[in-house]
Amino acid sequence: MRVLFASSEVYPLVKTGGLADVSGALPAALAQAGQDVRVLLPGYSEALTKAEGKRQIASLGDPLGVGAEAKLISAKLPGSGVPLWLIDCPALYDRKGGPYQDEDGSEYTDNHLRFGLLSWAAAHLSTAGSPIKWRPEVLHCHDWQTGLAPAYLQAWDLAERPKTVFTIHNIAYQGLFPAETVSRLGLPWDMYQMAGFEYYDSLSFLKAGLVYSDRVTTVSPRYAKEIQAAPHGCGLEGLLAERAADLTGIINGADYAVWDPSVDTNLTHRYKPADFITGKAANKAELQAELGLAQDPDAPLLIIVSRLNDLKGMDLVLAVMPAILRQGAQLAVLGTGDKALEDGFKAVADANPTQVAVKIGYSETLAHRLMAAGDMLVMPSRFEPCGLTQFYAFRYGTVPVVHVTGGLADTVVDTTYDGLMTGTATGFAFEHANAGAFQWTVERAVAMFRQKDQWRKVQTAGVYQDFGWDRSANRYVQLYNGLTAS
Ligand code: ADP
Ligand code: GLC
Repeated sequence: MRVLFASSEVYPLVKTGGLADVSGALPAALAQAGQDVRVLLPGYSEALTKAEGKRQIASLGDPLGVGAEAKLISAKLPGSGVPLWLIDCPALYDRKGGPYQDEDGSEYTDNHLRFGLLSWAAAHLSTAGSPIKWRPEVLHCHDWQTGLAPAYLQAWDLAERPKTVFTIHNIAYQGLFPAETVSRLGLPWDMYQMAGFEYYDSLSFLKAGLVYSDRVTTVSPRYAKEIQAAPHGCGLEGLLAERAADLTGIINGADYAVWDPSVDTNLTHRYKPADFITGKAANKAELQAELGLAQDPDAPLLIIVSRLNDLKGMDLVLAVMPAILRQGAQLAVLGTGDKALEDGFKAVADANPTQVAVKIGYSETLAHRLMAAGDMLVMPSRFEPCGLTQFYAFRYGTVPVVHVTGGLADTVVDTTYDGLMTGTATGFAFEHANAGAFQWTVERAVAMFRQKDQWRKVQTAGVYQDFGWDRSANRYVQLYNGLTAS
């Protein structure tokens, strides 16, 4: 099966979160399963620098009238060697900041053009008008940045077109732009209506993807249910409930070539997952020293590797900070996000330097080292479509403490008496996203941490979890096959 994957971030070329991990690892797993996959990504300068074996293969012209020609570059994804297409258009993608925001954290004002072009190119390269002979049978789009691709295909009304799949990684980000964007992007006005891509007097890229794709998927079964109702549907619950028959939840996987402590080149002390006791102790001691935390193997080390915002429940962490400190636990935070939360964490660290360390910023290396050193990964997300860090935590012997939502509900088993006795418990989970429930769960986890035998049981159950991509990739293959057979 020929599949074109369109995404706005792909590990290891450009990453702000889990979308990049999925867009890097899933195509590789699909290729392993015998599929003929290509990945389409904007040619951000960072991506052009890191991509291997670049060569220009076609011109895409200037379809959106930005005053600059876009070129199609063929390359390979480092690591997996998956074929990659980059849209080289420096006028849109050669920027100093990240993929979506400038260096000050403001959204680029031309994101409708930047991701309009990504969507347009994904659609165009899937049709008979493509300058390339290879054309996909399935176009697989991801998140709002690619939502207009199925809309372009609909608008062009061609005799021959691929089947389309749209995957929601996070419905909270919808890509809303003023109405006049419709003509700016060459889309027909008759699609700007409630049954089309209009959303409360704006053009919604995400809604376009949901309305005009043949199938919609999201990244866990539980989230697929949650988004069919408020508040998780973020206003699109009605549409999703209507499309329930075409909506599937397929859990993400973990890329164990990148996230396994025995092969992790970010660690000075690599260890086999099964040897987590000695392996983690060495990594913990090293990290405590480096971060200025008290050199205490018996102090439970809580870690956070996350975007810092309320959706991730980071305000709840600040709210229960006094209880965390009171129990003699340590906290190491790596993240960026809302200024108030960044400042809140920094203030706690300043006041308690031997118990709390905070690194505001993005660091792939430190993320891996925290996984290896930590005792618990804290994820009190208010909602979490899938979440990937809990998978990584398992493999490193780090126990996740999570809110029961989305993919966290599907993948973390709370430590109850039964769970402990049967060896199925893999973490600590709380039902209601409030500070009280979270605090009680942290206290439960810390109490069990001090009962070493029990704690080892929970760690061991986590270490042996297998969230490799092969199973999920097969689910996507079944979906593609079902679509093209229909
Ligand atoms: P989301 O995509 O919602 O941010 P996920 O759990 O799916 O959440 O994926 C987050 C990914 O981003 C993980 O690979 C995690 O390690 C990484 N990550 C998040 N924040 C940082 C950071 N500050 N530095 C390095 N990696 C980070
Ligand atoms: C999104 C979600 C996260 C998910 C990731 C990859 O960023 O917030 O839960 O794991 O996409 O699908």
